[in-house]
Amino acid sequence: MVSRQRVFNLLRTMNSLSCQCPAHGCRGNIQVSNATPVKDYAFEIKNSTVRYGLGVTREVGLDLVNFNAKNVCVMTDTNLMTLRPVQSVLDSLTKNGIKYEVYNKVRVEPTDSSFKEATEFAKRGKFDSFVAVGGGSVMDTCKAANLYYCDPDADFLDYVNAPVGRGKPVTVQLKPMIAIPTTSGTGSETTGASIFDYEELKAKTGISHSALRPLLAIIDPLHTMTMPEKVSNYSGFDVFCHALESFTAIPYNERSPAPPNPALRPAYQGSNPISDVWARFCLQTIQKYFARSVYNADDIEARSSMHLAGTMAGVGIGNAGVHLCHSLAYPIAGNVKTFVAQDYGDEPLVPHGLSVVMTAPAVFRFTAASDPDKHLEAAGLLGTDTTGKKQADAGAILADTIIKYMDTMNIENGLQKLGYAHEDIPDLVKGALPQQRLLKMTPLPQTEEDLSKMLEDSLVIY
Ligand SMILES: NC(=O)c1ccc[n+]([C@@H]2O[C@H](COP(=O)([O-])OP(=O)(O)OC[C@H]3O[C@@H](n4cnc5c(N)ncnc54)[C@H](O)[C@@H]3O)[C@@H](O)[C@H]2O)c1
Ligand SMILES: [Fe+2]
Repeated sequence: MVSRQRVFNLLRTMNSLSCQCPAHGCRGNIQVSNATPVKDYAFEIKNSTVRYGLGVTREVGLDLVNFNAKNVCVMTDTNLMTLRPVQSVLDSLTKNGIKYEVYNKVRVEPTDSSFKEATEFAKRGKFDSFVAVGGGSVMDTCKAANLYYCDPDADFLDYVNAPVGRGKPVTVQLKPMIAIPTTSGTGSETTGASIFDYEELKAKTGISHSALRPLLAIIDPLHTMTMPEKVSNYSGFDVFCHALESFTAIPYNERSPAPPNPALRPAYQGSNPISDVWARFCLQTIQKYFARSVYNADDIEARSSMHLAGTMAGVGIGNAGVHLCHSLAYPIAGNVKTFVAQDYGDEPLVPHGLSVVMTAPAVFRFTAASDPDKHLEAAGLLGTDTTGKKQADAGAILADTIIKYMDTMNIENGLQKLGYAHEDIPDLVKGALPQQRLLKMTPLPQTEEDLSKMLEDSLVIY
């Protein structure tokens, strides 16, 4: 067990390395007091404006008129280009006389190179606003393109999270961005995060700053009706893990140190009573609608409910944070060998939702000791009868609940099915360690051996 002082010193070092801004959003000169850091005692909730409704995309052209937009960059991917979500956005823009250009070359599971290509397109176009229509890949690419378009002299790593990049706060004014999600998953439409695969490290990392948060999120469940089964399945497990991880993250008032200036309070603050509301709602929605939404593409009630849950979980994680499933998922996705996912194109890739759920049973077996009652509550919200169950069994009960969902949804049985073996575990651990922003949200201290064991236990799951 690591000593409390060591954990405290580590957190203090990491805090000094990480983005120094209010919820990643400082634009000024921050005064830092020398007071001894103690545990935090406060949390705050930040969010994009969210508009939800069947068919509400028809309003996007008017929104752009209201923003006084004259030249709009619409970003999407090649697959979505011919489908209803993009067509309905372009119809609304045309109807309202908005001039636009479309960039449809967004890479699914983007990389630093694909971010740079999208930025080059933005730089050529001299745009005054951005609209992203797609899943997390599109929204994250659009956030990054907007950032580097507005700060053309920046080095790419300036804004990337430390320790991979320099974690520089965003002080330039970004152009207004509207995000229109088409999956029920990432919640990127409400967060200031932009995630990419850093090819050199073979691991995912990101840019996190509240300035990246879209001005408006238009949540139109009609867009989910074209989602193929596997996209609905894997992105649903992203929502599943967002809800579980934010619900079980270190409590906000256990996180150290308290910021010496409120402007330095991080985006990921730990679980708190408000993000718990989102998480509970999401877990209940998942219990009622997840399987229905995956297996019945025309079940509009189920698909609409999961779409709302995706956004709600985004609000939860955007303020509470995620922890181990996501930390371990980044190298699982980044080191992909030959795994090709159905409905995600021909290139080898591990879809984000699949990469996060792979370790979920092992993760929650590990974290249950931090708060057995909350882990039991989560299992109950997901449909397991926990009456009379012992606290000591909380981890096993939640893990079994998760496995039941994975089984129902035909999820690949462990990392072995994704092409990993025992010999790959050290590389996966190495890729997880730089994810300090997420690891420090874990409710218990963890060693490299703990991470290895969780990955080992995830080679074959059920
Ligand atoms: N920024 C954040 O806060 C955040 C949070 C979690 C994950 N992410 C990132 O988001 C990315 C994953 O995004 P995702 O899971 O939303 O999927 P995605 O954007 O990668 O899309 C997956 C596939 O589904 C297709 N698709 C999407 N919507 C469709 C629809 N309605 N109809 C038909 N096809 C559709 C796409 O064309 C693509 O082929 C990863 O890179 C992940 O790291 C970001
Ligand atoms: Fe996620």
